[in-house]
Amino acid sequence: MLEFKQNIRGNVALGINPVGLKQEVQNQINYVKNKGSFEGPKKVLIIGASSSYGLATRISLAFGTGADTIGVSFEKGPKSARSLGTAGWYNNIAFKEAAEKEGLVAKNFVQDAFSHESKQEVIDYIKNEFGGKVDLVVYSLASGRRNDPDTGETYMSSIKALGEPVVGPNINMQEQTFYTETLDPATDQEIADTVKVMGGEDWELWMKALKEAGVLSDGVLTANYSYLGTELNHPYYGGGTLGRAKADCDEKAENINELLTDINGKALIVVATAVTTKASSVIPFFPVYCIGLYKIMEEKGTHETPIMHQDRIYREMIYGNKPEYDEVGRLRPDSWELDSDTQAKTKELILELNEDNFNSDKTAYDLFYKEFSNLSGFMVDNYTEQDVTLEELKALEY
Ligand code: NAI
Repeated sequence: MLEFKQNIRGNVALGINPVGLKQEVQNQINYVKNKGSFEGPKKVLIIGASSSYGLATRISLAFGTGADTIGVSFEKGPKSARSLGTAGWYNNIAFKEAAEKEGLVAKNFVQDAFSHESKQEVIDYIKNEFGGKVDLVVYSLASGRRNDPDTGETYMSSIKALGEPVVGPNINMQEQTFYTETLDPATDQEIADTVKVMGGEDWELWMKALKEAGVLSDGVLTANYSYLGTELNHPYYGGGTLGRAKADCDEKAENINELLTDINGKALIVVATAVTTKASSVIPFFPVYCIGLYKIMEEKGTHETPIMHQDRIYREMIYGNKPEYDEVGRLRPDSWELDSDTQAKTKELILELNEDNFNSDKTAYDLFYKEFSNLSGFMVDNYTEQDVTLEELKALEY
């Protein structure tokens, strides 16, 4: 029998619990089902579908609107007792099993979304087996690297400041420590490379390929998740390399809007709230912002996990009657995070943090740690231990 051990290096989770991951997917499904159904898209493509925001989107749409879904992700399956694969691998499987039980189509493509081949395979599948068209395309990819599909060159993204170094507090969940970190400013090359990886180029390539192939419905919507943040994280996020990449997505949204005019389509930037994910846990200083912010938002009853946030975005905002747009047309579900009283109290709290109190009742450290653990199938609500063998895991099909 396999033993599932939580193993964290810095703020990166290495160990996973596939049984816990399955339960966590089920918990998210239950959350959506408890809210009831809503009218929305029926044929959805999600690029970056296997974890956090992409997975939550998929669950919300499948179990909220009864949508058939195609999910593209880059994950690894089990090889040995020491190498059980990635969390997203098991999330894909758990999602598919639950969706198919309800009679929904749930197709997983586990491959490099940046390649031309992936796009073509998805297009062929839409044409031949998915009814010919999709009415929503969600781009929720987060990656540290990208192979350019034309040149084969590999680009790496870096999370860095611009101009001046940034010095501030961070936490290390492995060591349970609070320390001061310095973030160097990026070179021009690093800025350009980060835009190449996390900017909107690949989103636009997907939309061009899908449009050219004639697989987009009239009135198609495409959403891309952005983050703008506040003055508390501006020096290392909005004002750093990631901010540049997000600004590039804003620009590409304009191109895509033009591309989709004749089919009445729309590209929407959704400025999402700060949540605990594999990607956000490794952004320097960001966990400290989160443990302060979540504490205040918990007290106000506005703290959300990815499933709560995405369900609200689709149920109440995009396909509901409570959308909030900013002056440039972006959807702003992050308004709860940006609430001025929330931000003022978060600032006050963060300024008081030190090595003695960062993981006390004063902050939401425990909540952040639990949400981080949930991403790997640990500390999952309603979890029941099960004996599982490597052979059984290897036999699971995505
Ligand atoms: P995540 O790391 O949990 O998920 C990323 C997804 O991309 C996974 O499904 C992964 O398999 C997939 N992926 C990565 N490289 C791939 C490749 N080469 N081919 C195919 N799939 C690939 O990330 P998270 O945090 O859910 O982020 C998704 C988006 O949401 C990002 O654009 C992020 O900037 C944005 N966002 C995140 C916020 C946060 O606090 N985490 C806040 C606001 C926006």
